[in-house]
Amino acid sequence: MLVLGIETTCDETAAAVVERHDDGRAVILANVVLSQIAEHAAFGGVVPEIAARAHVEALDLIVATAMADAGRDFGALDGVAAAAGPGLIGGVIVGLTTAKAIAMVHEKPLIAVNHLEAHALTARLTDGTAFPYCLFLASGGHTQIVAVRGVGDYVRLGTTRDDAIGEAFDKTAKLLGLGYPGGPRVEQEAAKGDRGRFILPRPMIGRQDADFSLSGLKTALRLEAEKIAPLTDRDVADLCASFQAAVVDMVVDRLRHGLRMFRQRFGAPSALVAAGGVAANQALRHALLEMAAHDEVALVVPPPALCTDNAAMIAWAGAERLVHGLHDTLDTPPRARWPLSQVTGPAAPAFPAPHAGERTEQAIATDSTETDKPEAPAADAIRSDAASSVIA
Ligand code: KG4
Ligand code: ZN
Repeated sequence: MLVLGIETTCDETAAAVVERHDDGRAVILANVVLSQIAEHAAFGGVVPEIAARAHVEALDLIVATAMADAGRDFGALDGVAAAAGPGLIGGVIVGLTTAKAIAMVHEKPLIAVNHLEAHALTARLTDGTAFPYCLFLASGGHTQIVAVRGVGDYVRLGTTRDDAIGEAFDKTAKLLGLGYPGGPRVEQEAAKGDRGRFILPRPMIGRQDADFSLSGLKTALRLEAEKIAPLTDRDVADLCASFQAAVVDMVVDRLRHGLRMFRQRFGAPSALVAAGGVAANQALRHALLEMAAHDEVALVVPPPALCTDNAAMIAWAGAERLVHGLHDTLDTPPRARWPLSQVTGPAAPAFPAPHAGERTEQAIATDSTETDKPEAPAADAIRSDAASSVIA
């Protein structure tokens, strides 16, 4: 099954072609990402109107490049997938409309993919991870711990009560004058700094739920910075290191609780999976590795280029849906907001229902007595970002 994917929900214009074999193996034939960093840098963040215009200007060429890299023409596609939300609505409209046009002209099914579902399913693209697994999804707008039980079958176990983790990284970068994009800049500075110099709070640690809170940490960081202003390069590095250490400690604690909740409700997960832009952070990846070894759970973290926004994950999610016969009509609307809990799956869930008497929190949850596990895609023949090309 050959699927073209298009991603335009934020500041990356991306197109990819992914092939899904009948046994579930995936091959990324093309993965093109045009970052708009230069366009937004002067403003210290993404400007929605500029992003939408940049998507309009670039997308046709990005799609053509992806198809040329893949060496296939539109007629060979089995489906056209686009991120239909959640995201900045101008960009979503550009990507979804383009996908609709290609689908209509070439008479192919359209798959309107939820961007968060695409992050959630990336571990199956890269590692063939079997359902069910415990997902830590951390991006610029979302921080969630989710039980991924099948395609379109997601149960949220925890979320942030205020800022998303990526947002906290971005705000910290802005406060310290590091510019945009924040996460990678804070990580770079943190690598040079002393994580023990500032004692910052670790909100939520020890609580029995799996929720997060970032705003107290953000405020504490600001107060520390104000106390010692003007800041030297060393101060900035030490503040970044102390901030990142606090975030990592909190994430590890919250994931321990999330995993405990997962096991209580759904039994053992096949893996702990990290996804979303924040999962590109190396300090976090190391901490998760230690934690997973201690908790005796396999850890799957896709390569950084597939953690941050890309279209290979959109194409893959499209293929995962199409294989279940799930596709969308040409009047499918773009959505600025689209919680993962509202994503629907095939009529019968791909994995056994929760323990007796338990109901899922999903909007369209379906309990079933079906016990067949789907065959997990084999990991060995998967090329992850080997075929990626990054423009600019
Ligand atoms: O998933 P993503 O690429 O886009 C969204 O869907 O939001 O995530 C972007 C977020 C940004 O907040 C960015 O600062 C953060 O992920 N991020 C990082 C790193 N790379 C990206 N945060 C911490 N460390 C990084 N290395
Ligand atoms: Zn994302």
